[in-house]
Amino acid sequence: MRDEPGALPGRRRLRPRTFERVRPSVPVRIQDSADVSPDAVIGEGSSVWHLAQVREGAVLGKNCIVGRGAYVGTGVVMGDSCKLQNYALVYEPAVLEDGVFVGPAVCFTNDHYPRSISPDGTLKRGDDWEAVGVTCRTGSSIGARSVCVAPVTIGRWAMVAAGSVVVTDVPDFALVAGVPARRLRWVGKAGIPLEQGEQDGLWVCPQTGQTYVEENETLREAN
Ligand SMILES: CC(C)(COP(=O)(O)OP(=O)(O)OC[C@H]1O[C@@H](n2cnc3c(N)ncnc32)[C@H](O)[C@@H]1OP(=O)(O)O)[C@@H](O)C(=O)NCCC(=O)NCCS
Repeated sequence: MRDEPGALPGRRRLRPRTFERVRPSVPVRIQDSADVSPDAVIGEGSSVWHLAQVREGAVLGKNCIVGRGAYVGTGVVMGDSCKLQNYALVYEPAVLEDGVFVGPAVCFTNDHYPRSISPDGTLKRGDDWEAVGVTCRTGSSIGARSVCVAPVTIGRWAMVAAGSVVVTDVPDFALVAGVPARRLRWVGKAGIPLEQGEQDGLWVCPQTGQTYVEENETLREAN
């Protein structure tokens, strides 16, 4: 017999309680092989694909997609319409605002100076170190196989190129690349590199026509 949504094969009792409590009007899709904690909250219209794991206390907004083999750590908070591509590793205490794209095999770290053991050789435990998190602001995108070294904030609508290592905060609308990641250009909300406008400090999206203003290495939408 087929397991119910959210159950692990042979572990029927792990069916997330959240779904019973909330009864979303738009169904949540959870593949049988996904491991979703009963204490996670999954927003309506969201999907969790094969072999993904969503830990206890994680909160996902509406219409999120958690790809195959992706990991969402304990207490991680994700807004609406976020996409975690296959094998993305989102360790707590990461926070993703709305509409964040996390590419395949991305890793968000949470231990700045990691050690498995203490100086006396004993195994370190969860409370022997202080976790630090990655924050991804609204609309930001993290390219495939990038590593974001916490604590770090990826700004609104910023884009991280594939294979980057991000060690410092990324400004809103910045396109950064490399190891360590440095700003290459500005990108607009459409994700397309912006073109220089007619006046100094003015930038234009070739797709939408939206204009942006640059001041002191920051960019904002023009009114
Ligand atoms: C960065 C990116 C967005 C292209 O932006 P672009 O503005 O069109 O950049 P260009 O191709 O013109 O390259 C500009 C420079 O950046 C370099 N560059 C481009 N992508 C890079 C990357 N991922 N890492 C390091 N350098 C990169 C180019 O070599 C070039 O260097 P040069 O000026 O010394 O020749 C694209 O390469 C990328 O990484 N996209 C993300 C893809 C992804 O991960 N998708 C996830 C879903 S599969």
